Amino acid sequence: MKVLIVENADLVAQMGAEIIRELVDSKPKAVLGLATGSTPIAMYAYLVQIHKLRGLSFKEVSGFNLDEYIGLESDSPQSYRSFMNRSLFDGIDIGLNNTYLPSCGYEDDFNSVASEFENTIRAKGGIDLQILGIGRNGHIGFNEPISSLSSRTRVKTLRQDTIEDNSRFFDEGEFQPFQAMTMGIGTILEAEHILLMATGLEKAKAVRDAIEGPLSAMCPASALQLHKKVTVILDEASAQELENKNYYKWVNEKNKELEAMVSTGHTRGNSCMSEQL
Ligand code: GLP
Repeated sequence: MKVLIVENADLVAQMGAEIIRELVDSKPKAVLGLATGSTPIAMYAYLVQIHKLRGLSFKEVSGFNLDEYIGLESDSPQSYRSFMNRSLFDGIDIGLNNTYLPSCGYEDDFNSVASEFENTIRAKGGIDLQILGIGRNGHIGFNEPISSLSSRTRVKTLRQDTIEDNSRFFDEGEFQPFQAMTMGIGTILEAEHILLMATGLEKAKAVRDAIEGPLSAMCPASALQLHKKVTVILDEASAQELENKNYYKWVNEKNKELEAMVSTGHTRGNSCMSEQL
């Protein structure tokens, strides 16, 4: 894993947006895996700015969201479809017909919705970059603790702590879903590159368990340790419990020194001289 620790949440958002910009710039037909929650909102706002001010086009980009609630109409303000329209899709030129969420209602056949979602990912050539936030309990998407580390897209019943955490998006007395369809951990691990972002002290324990903890279904995000290319961007608060925090910072300083040595002609260097993931 490449673990980048920056001063604050705004820098996390900027760096995340820059990684997406680079990808879309070099691959206009990029396939993005997208996440909801508070964490990526500021990054999406930067992408809208980059689109408007610098002309980055998402016309040929496809987007697959990690998850969607069951029991909400897709035009309900709390659905993840509405969240994505509001936070990103309405502000860029992506074709809405190229955006996919694992949306299904109780009347639908869950298995066929899930396999169609996975088939569409495959038909698009797989996900180039999967964006992830992390739940306080270590979930990614809605893969709650003890999810199979090789799970595929399916329905999950949410844990009470997840429902409490997300209750801030619902008015009192309003129906709040307790189930969702989510990409599985196995599905997520098939992405070419995974970008996990976390901010705030309340995520510090989940971040530590994901990066340094044992590989365990009790912390679904720890499955990322199995992936060959994961970038983690953290603010200082969410990095607080990392035992090797200073080492990660040191590695990044050394990588910058290497880049400077190349640019000042001290060494010829090559594309693989900085630390590999
Ligand atoms: C939600 C989403 C996750 C998200 C997580 C953290 O339940 N299903 O994809 O990463 O919670 O959300 P937040 O960024 O709001 O803390």
